[in-house]
Amino acid sequence: MEIIIQPTPEAASQIAARIIARLLREKPNAVLGLATGSTPLLLYQELIRMKLDWSRVTTFNLDEYVGLPPDHPQSYHHFMHTHLFRHINIPPNQIHIPDGMAKDIPAFCKHYEDQIAAAGGIDLQVLGIGTDGHIGFNEPSSSLASRTRIKTLTDQTRRDNARFFRSLDEVPYHVITMGIGTIMEARQILLLAFGKHKARAIAEAVEGPITAMNPASVLQLHPVVKVCLDEAAASELKRADYYRWVYDHKPAWQRG
Ligand code: PGA
Repeated sequence: MEIIIQPTPEAASQIAARIIARLLREKPNAVLGLATGSTPLLLYQELIRMKLDWSRVTTFNLDEYVGLPPDHPQSYHHFMHTHLFRHINIPPNQIHIPDGMAKDIPAFCKHYEDQIAAAGGIDLQVLGIGTDGHIGFNEPSSSLASRTRIKTLTDQTRRDNARFFRSLDEVPYHVITMGIGTIMEARQILLLAFGKHKARAIAEAVEGPITAMNPASVLQLHPVVKVCLDEAAASELKRADYYRWVYDHKPAWQRG
């Protein structure tokens, strides 16, 4: 893992945006895995500002609430169109987001996996992290080999996400999420986390044992992971000074 600690979420998001911009320059038909939530907002703003060419890019989002139609203001379809897709030149048929209204959820999940495979797999997956260590909506105890499927949110995650809804009662209990096995097949992973409330989950994911109790910890087994943090999210890392040292002494050819 490469741990990149920056003074602010803005600075960390700019680094993440530069990594994606470089990928799109090198591979204009790249396949991106995208995330929702508060964390990637600055990244998406920066990507929009960069005016990249998305005409050949394909995207797959991590997850969606079951039972929310695409035009529901809290659906991840709505989120992605509001915060990214309507501002870039990506053709709509190259956008993929799990269908929270699917009648046959297992069949839809299989279809989603097939679509990822047919696109050639995901080149770069953007991830946030839950306060409980979830990635996508793979809550603690998720199989580390899991594929796209329905999951039940924990009470903690429903409460964390209630801020986007009018009340806790409105937060769905179920989601469709890419599995941990699905995420681990991405060729590169970019995990972002900001704020003190993420510090513990990040410290466990980066420096703790690999365990389904912190699903993000499985990323220790992935060969190409960059973790972009602000100081607050990095505040419980025991080896933070070492990660800064490594970043400051990267060979010139590795710098972005
Ligand atoms: P957040 O959520 O970006 O809104 O903090 C992250 C997540 O739950 O994965």
